[in-house]
Amino acid sequence: MIIPDWYIERRDFVEKALKNYLEEYFASDGIFLWKIDNEWLKEFREACFYAVKWWKKLRAILALEFFLSLQKREFSTVRLDEDIVKYCIALELMHSFSLVHDDMPCMDNDVLRRWKNTVWKEFWEYQGLLVWDFLNTLSFECISEIQDPKLSVKLSNLLSRSSGYHGMVWWQLDDMYFEKFPEKLAISDLLKLHNRKTWALIRAAVQGWILSSWKMKHIHKLSSFWEKLWLAFQIKDDILDVEGTAQETGKSVWWEEKGFVYFMWLKKTKEYLDSTINECLELTQMLKSENIQFLIRFIQQRSK
Ligand code: IPE
Ligand code: IPE
Ligand code: MG
Ligand code: MG
Repeated sequence: MIIPDWYIERRDFVEKALKNYLEEYFASDGIFLWKIDNEWLKEFREACFYAVKWWKKLRAILALEFFLSLQKREFSTVRLDEDIVKYCIALELMHSFSLVHDDMPCMDNDVLRRWKNTVWKEFWEYQGLLVWDFLNTLSFECISEIQDPKLSVKLSNLLSRSSGYHGMVWWQLDDMYFEKFPEKLAISDLLKLHNRKTWALIRAAVQGWILSSWKMKHIHKLSSFWEKLWLAFQIKDDILDVEGTAQETGKSVWWEEKGFVYFMWLKKTKEYLDSTINECLELTQMLKSENIQFLIRFIQQRSK
């Protein structure tokens, strides 16, 4: 699938915003008037840039496109200091921390992410642990800087629920449990399981600016959309686990007994993906955004 220039432009924009944000953060004095610096701190800062760098930035781009569509704005008018950009940064900080955390030796014990060593592998385990702590807390600090106070509170609640007990924490526990006892997992559990994993952050990406537009008709109509979109993302992820290679996807791939393909086999899983994608396309037609329609197809056709 050819990635259009506008996608690359948005991705580079988000990456630049993230990098600037971290640079300014590290350059500021915080609450202390003096600083002692050493090579471990230097390495830690390097590990943070390493953790947030590269690849899709899908959650931020989804949030951005919903913002542009609902606010009827052109991308070229978006400034780095706007609330929406803070939200994009927070989403990607949170997504990155979830990956650092997921790759840790005590979790998936993975060594490959985005075609590079995982953070703990490249920088030691204690650095990985601290990077994860820091990116998590920083995402909330970033949200707290959103100018509109009502929105700031709403978004931090949304993100906290997405990453906390009712979101990713629950999912990681279930994921490990069913890794040990795969025979206890039924397909109906699988939907609930993945729901907490992918749904949470993708919903947050889409829902963020829908909440800010305060248009009930959008909230109502699009609620089934984000339910379908996470599902499509996850079905595709499971297909890539079977059909993809580490070279192509940039991460380890393996056959999972917890995947849709295990329960439905490849052909049926692909049909399920296609019908879910078609529903997503239909549900977002009223937004009249070609870019959003592209993002949905991208989720279906991506190879990484
Ligand atoms: C990977 O997400 C984690 C899952 C929820 C399966 P992405 O595929 O969006 O990862 P990056 O950010 O592009 O590396
Ligand atoms: C990682 O999940 C996604 C999170 C939400 C933390 P997986 O372990 O299934 O995905 P990959 O294959 O490492 O990206
Ligand atoms: Mg993993
Ligand atoms: Mg995992």
